[in-house]
Amino acid sequence: MKRLEGKVAVVTGGSSGIGLASARRLAAEGAKIVIASQNKERIEAAAERVRREDKVEVLGLECDVSREEAVVAVVERTLERFGQFDIAVNNAGMMLFKKLEEYTPADWERVLGVDLMGSVHFTKQAFLHMRRGGAIVNVASIHALVTSPLVAPYAAAKAATLSLTRSASIEGREKGIRCNVVLPGAIDTGMLWDNPNIKSGAEKIDPKDVGKPEDVAAAVAFLASDDAAFITGTALRVDGGRLDKL
Ligand SMILES: NC(=O)c1ccc[n+]([C@@H]2O[C@H](COP(=O)([O-])OP(=O)(O)OC[C@H]3O[C@@H](n4cnc5c(N)ncnc54)[C@H](O)[C@@H]3O)[C@@H](O)[C@H]2O)c1
Repeated sequence: MKRLEGKVAVVTGGSSGIGLASARRLAAEGAKIVIASQNKERIEAAAERVRREDKVEVLGLECDVSREEAVVAVVERTLERFGQFDIAVNNAGMMLFKKLEEYTPADWERVLGVDLMGSVHFTKQAFLHMRRGGAIVNVASIHALVTSPLVAPYAAAKAATLSLTRSASIEGREKGIRCNVVLPGAIDTGMLWDNPNIKSGAEKIDPKDVGKPEDVAAAVAFLASDDAAFITGTALRVDGGRLDKL
């Protein structure tokens, strides 16, 4: 029996990068998958790939995770289609790059909306609809702990995600729902190489410090599974040790 057989997992931002790798890994371990992301074509392409290669049922849904009503709709469609909602992987994320004094309130709302409130909205739905044994896995970043210039809202959102994880783990205990967070370091996805701090050399990355989306997906699958049944409130760095170096 596969580790996640009989489970239904919603993966936000599951159409690319770490989210797609996580959707594929959860599918390979037997879970039915809902990909909730942006860009209809990319969602459908990702859903088709997971269906074809991992041979599980997949529902692809367009969703702006920053909007609570859109998140509610995803969970409603998930329950209609599969009758249950067991795993939430809050992975959708985006970054803006500006000096602190140039960020507008709308910029802050946009980044916090996706990188923090998306997880808040899914946590609420998880608490309302998951059965005992449910698991939430948030995808933060090592930017929650250390950061670089120009990404203040992103770093703040990721740091707040650690705090959200603690609150959810405490309040989830009586519901039988666990909540953990992974902190990826540099991972080989579009988001990494599009980062102007990396393009400009302001943030230096040793190629040895760059991990694969599958490295994060493995941690996500573990935390989502019953192998982690006694693990909640944990923040797990997946950075190849990058943060420990002087
Ligand atoms: N790549 C890295 O080095 C790295 C490091 C640390 C943390 N992370 C985090 O990993 C997560 C995934 O990033 P990635 O590197 O795979 O990049 P990515 O750009 O491939 O993935 C981001 C995904 O989020 C989706 N998304 C963006 N805004 C959304 C919204 N409003 N609603 C729904 N979906 C939305 C995008 O469609 C995309 O699929 C992010 O939370 C990111 O902050 C990435």
